Amino acid sequence: ETKAIRALRGRLLWFVDDPETAGDAAHRYVEDGLLVIASGIIAAVGEAATLLPTLPAGAEIIDHRPHLIMPGFIDAHLHMPQTQVIASYGAQLMEWLNKYTFVEEQKCGQQGHPEKLARFFLDELLANGTTTAVVYCSVHPQSVEALFLESERRNTRMVAGKVMMDRNAPEALTDTAGSGYADSKALIARWHGKGRQLYAITPRFAITSTPEQLAAAGRLAAEHPDCHVQTHINENQAEIAYTRELFPDAPDYAGVYEHYGLLGPRSLMGHCIHMTKREWRAFAEARAVAVFCPTSNLFLGSGLFDWARAKREGVPVAVATDIGGGTSYSMLRTMSEAYKILQLQGQSLQSFAALHAITRGNAVALKLDHLIGSLEPGHEADVVVLDPAATRAMAHRLETVRDLAEELFVLVTLGDERNVAATYVMGQRATPT
Ligand code: GUN
Ligand code: ZN
Repeated sequence: ETKAIRALRGRLLWFVDDPETAGDAAHRYVEDGLLVIASGIIAAVGEAATLLPTLPAGAEIIDHRPHLIMPGFIDAHLHMPQTQVIASYGAQLMEWLNKYTFVEEQKCGQQGHPEKLARFFLDELLANGTTTAVVYCSVHPQSVEALFLESERRNTRMVAGKVMMDRNAPEALTDTAGSGYADSKALIARWHGKGRQLYAITPRFAITSTPEQLAAAGRLAAEHPDCHVQTHINENQAEIAYTRELFPDAPDYAGVYEHYGLLGPRSLMGHCIHMTKREWRAFAEARAVAVFCPTSNLFLGSGLFDWARAKREGVPVAVATDIGGGTSYSMLRTMSEAYKILQLQGQSLQSFAALHAITRGNAVALKLDHLIGSLEPGHEADVVVLDPAATRAMAHRLETVRDLAEELFVLVTLGDERNVAATYVMGQRATPT
C-alpha cells in the first residue's frame, strides 16, 4: 500500500548540468543520501543524517545501501513490435526490414498480440531500469492502445505513436494518408497528456510514406505542437539512395522532412549517421534532435555516429536502444557500445557523460527535464537502484578502482540488467507482472 511519505537510502547520484561543459559541477553525489518521496514526487534529497530527523512518524525508509540510486533511465527510440525481431541474422537495413520486421509487425493486427507485447515490453524495460521510453508501435492503432493501457496501469511515463506508412510495405501493414492522419489524431485526443502518457507523431521514414502522407503528418505536427515527432534518417547508404530517388526535388534526406514541416525542436530523428554539412545545419537551425542508437548501428552494419560533430554543429543528441535493430534493452550496455563507436573515431565518453546521457541528457533532449531524469525535488520519483558489484567479474574489477568516476566506468562498460537491484515508478517499486 502507498504510504504518504517514503524515503530511499543509498548512494545518490544525479545531474544538474552537462558534464561535458560543466565538469564536476554537473553531478551531485551523496555517499549516504536520502531521497524523500511524497505522493510519487521527490520532496527532498540530501544527506541522510540531515533528512532522517525531518521525516514524519510512520514514514517508510527503504535502505538500499551500499547501492547507487539514480534517476530511472530514458530510452529515446525503440520499437515495441520488434521484441521478437531482435537478433535476426544476416541483413542490413532494407533487407532486414522486408525479411524480418515487416513480417513480424503484421502480427500486431491479431487479437491479443499487442497486449502480450506491451506486457512483456514494460516488464523488460523496468527490469533494465528504464522508466521512460519513446516507442514506435505498429501501424495498427490497437498497438498504441495496448501500450498506453499497460503503461497507464503501471503509471509509467511513455511517449509513443502509431507508425504511419502508406507505401513500400506489405498491404497488411499500410494505412493511407487520410487514415494515418485520422487514426493518429484520435489517439492524440485519447492519450496525449492522459496521466503520464504522451503521443509521438510517427511517420516511419520517407521511403514508406507518400508525399501526401508526409504532408498529413506535418499537418498533425502543426496542429499538435506539444507532441513529439519521431522518424528515421540517414541510417544506411541504400536507404539514402532510395530516398533520393523517391524525392528527386529535395536537396537531401533532411530536406524531405523539412519540406513537410517534420523537422522541429520536438523531432527525434533516429540514426543521423551519414549527414551532409547542409543537413547538420538544418538540424541545428530547427533544434531537431539526433538520436544515437549504438547497438543497432553496429548490428545492422549501418555506420558510426559522429557525436563530436553533432556537438560542434550544435545539434542536440539523445541515445537509444532501437530494439529490435538494437541488441540490448539495457541503457548501460547501450552506452558501453557508444563508447566503442566513439573510440573508433578517436573520440571519448567519460562515465559521468554516459550516465548523464541516459538520465538528464535524454530528458533535456525530450524537453521533459522538468519532470524526469533528475533527483531534484519536484521531479517525478522514477528511480533505478544499481548494484555495481552484481556480477563476479564486476565485483572482482571493483577491487582496484580508486574513485567514483572509475567505479562508474566499470558500471557503464560491464553493466546490464543484472546490476538493477530495484526500479521505482512514481515512488512505487515496480514488480514484473
Ligand atoms: N528505418 C525505418 N524503419 C526502421 C526500423 O524499424 N528500424 C531501423 N533501425 N531503421 C528503420
Ligand atoms: Zn528505429
